[in-house]
Amino acid sequence: MADKNTQVQLARQPDGEPKVSDFQVAETDIPAAGPGKFLARNIYLSLDPYMRGAISGRHMGHSRLNQGDLIGGRCVAQVIESKHAEYAEGDYIVIESGWQSYCVSDGAAKDGVRKIDPNAGPLSAALGVLGMPGLTAWAGVEKLADPGLGDTFVVTAAAGPVGGTAGQLAKAKGCRAVGIAGSDEKCRIVVEEYGFDACVNYKNDDWEEALKEACPDGIDVYFDNVGGPILDTITQQLNLYGKIILCGLVSQYNRNDDNDFAGHNMGPFVGKRAQLLGLVVYDYYDQMDEFLRAAVPLVKAGRLNFHEDRADRIEDAPAHFAKLMSGQNVGKAMVTIGPESL
Ligand SMILES: NC(=O)c1ccc[n+]([C@@H]2O[C@H](COP(=O)([O-])OP(=O)(O)OC[C@H]3O[C@@H](n4cnc5c(N)ncnc54)[C@H](OP(=O)(O)O)[C@@H]3O)[C@@H](O)[C@H]2O)c1
Repeated sequence: MADKNTQVQLARQPDGEPKVSDFQVAETDIPAAGPGKFLARNIYLSLDPYMRGAISGRHMGHSRLNQGDLIGGRCVAQVIESKHAEYAEGDYIVIESGWQSYCVSDGAAKDGVRKIDPNAGPLSAALGVLGMPGLTAWAGVEKLADPGLGDTFVVTAAAGPVGGTAGQLAKAKGCRAVGIAGSDEKCRIVVEEYGFDACVNYKNDDWEEALKEACPDGIDVYFDNVGGPILDTITQQLNLYGKIILCGLVSQYNRNDDNDFAGHNMGPFVGKRAQLLGLVVYDYYDQMDEFLRAAVPLVKAGRLNFHEDRADRIEDAPAHFAKLMSGQNVGKAMVTIGPESL
């Protein structure tokens, strides 16, 4: 066990896309597990797009961070010392630990502690396909969109953990799954590794035509992870009475000002009689067990695949986060902090 706790803290508020210099690395003492608490060592840190808004106090329930504040985030961790009745040494957990190598918790709800079964799949999957992003995708597909056999289901950020999982779950329900992603390599992963029927690179000039060709019967469900002009374009190709799952607005997350984005012309949404369904994963946390009962067998059977984009040291978390927030990640962004077992 290391003799210090490495933390990544805020150095200054990002201006637009985050940069490495917006963060600082500090060493603190490893916290002690007092009565009713446990000490955990972090193994994998999840990097997620919502963190950009959380740092600036724009994400639900998060206060704007100041210089020296620990960056918030979720980790897969292992309990290494426990004075808590429900957590034993050796237990694997997911915990809102922050960007650091150790954490102490009393197991209270604010820490979002959830035990994980190390046999359910790779431990790291608890941050991706079998974690919050997977639950998001499942809630959008199963609980909101509920597409029918033969429907055409389109999803953006399709190589990522939310989009990739959503398309595969829709495909498992008998839909035609079409991804939209920002590079040819991402599109290759979406088709070859995730098994979508097609994927369109929206950075090509002719992408709207390519989308029409990929969706010969129009679009029944659009699972939107990006917002912005892509949402307007896809709405033009939506079938009458189609559904739009409003999940993410990543094209807007790097803005500095809440008013700093263009609105949408709502006419086409009306013309299509579209149903716009907002999705917040927090509403589904109490359905995590139901989700895992559905998803774990699919992962084990190789029918729900995922791709990871890892950095190897906690000190590299800022650069890896900058990579995510510029859209350069390929798959679930995460940082390896320590070995899976000691
Ligand atoms: N509603 C909820 O409760 C909930 C829960 C979890 C996640 N989400 C949202 O779901 C979306 C996907 O999350 P994820 O974790 O699966 O992320 P991700 O796909 O791993 O990463 C984000 C991706 O967004 C795309 N992107 C499009 N425009 C971008 C821009 N201007 N800047 C940066 N990236 C851009 C990039 O892919 P391309 O190159 O393919 O464009 C990038 O790789 C995000 O919007 C996230 O906030 C919502």
